[in-house]
Amino acid sequence: MWRNKYDLYEEAVQSPDSDVAFILREYRKIYKSEPLSLREDFCGTGALLRAWVSRSASRSAVGIDLDPAPIFYGLQTHHASLKPARRERVRFVQDDVLRASRFKADVICAFNYSYYVFKTRELLLAYFKSVRKSLNSKGLFFLDTFGGTDAMIESVESRRIGDFTYYWECESFNPLTHECLYAIHFRRNSRGAPKHRRVFTYDWRYWTMSELRDLLIEAGFAKVRSYWEGDDRRGGGNGVFRETVRAENCQSWISYLVAEI
Ligand SMILES: C[S@@+](CC[C@H](N)C(=O)[O-])C[C@H]1O[C@@H](n2cnc3c(N)ncnc32)[C@H](O)[C@@H]1O
Repeated sequence: MWRNKYDLYEEAVQSPDSDVAFILREYRKIYKSEPLSLREDFCGTGALLRAWVSRSASRSAVGIDLDPAPIFYGLQTHHASLKPARRERVRFVQDDVLRASRFKADVICAFNYSYYVFKTRELLLAYFKSVRKSLNSKGLFFLDTFGGTDAMIESVESRRIGDFTYYWECESFNPLTHECLYAIHFRRNSRGAPKHRRVFTYDWRYWTMSELRDLLIEAGFAKVRSYWEGDDRRGGGNGVFRETVRAENCQSWISYLVAEI
């Protein structure tokens, strides 16, 4: 690979500053106060942890991930780039999110569909219950999901990003169980450059929005809000998500859910 795989991943799929802006906007709207502590489940390299603490001296963040490799990259890059006082407010924990209930926070988030790793109702419900137990009294749980008529078919989408192309492939989708296999490939945009296949792979169960809403309520959350992206009038999304209970079905969409304690 011509560049570090986590560097490519972050550039292709993450927008930590927009995520933080969305979290702050919704938290302030719901609780009329400031959230201080963030726990990012499935944190990977922890780019979001850095964005969370870098704009306020009173914020702290903890990231939980099973895999030491992205944590190591995150420590060397995001963590190391913080000023010492901010650095002390960020912690990485290498563990299973199912065992993380000792890490309490105002906000807990699970982004990039990482909780799809829980393939049974029992496991996903146990995870949601453990998140609820970990939230402070004014707590919110943020998660994202995707859908649309294209969501359940084998397909590949690609996007040119600067000097490389990012590919998101659904390699298999079992309509009976919703078990699915996704992969990320990268290719440098230069003549004859090879496609680096399956740089990241995800063995998941796809959960629908309504299943997620039901499970969150069953886990004890008082209210679940869903968000829909505005359109850019050219057939795409404009990156602005608003709370709603009604939406027009389309081929492909991404959405946030926010569960209130
Ligand atoms: C799709 S990446 C998400 C990274 C980051 N949250 C993001 O938004 O891009 C999924 C991450 O979840 C981690 N993971 C998978 N199962 C886990 C578990 N049970 N507990 C903690 N981390 C887990 C993987 O090691 C991987 O780093």
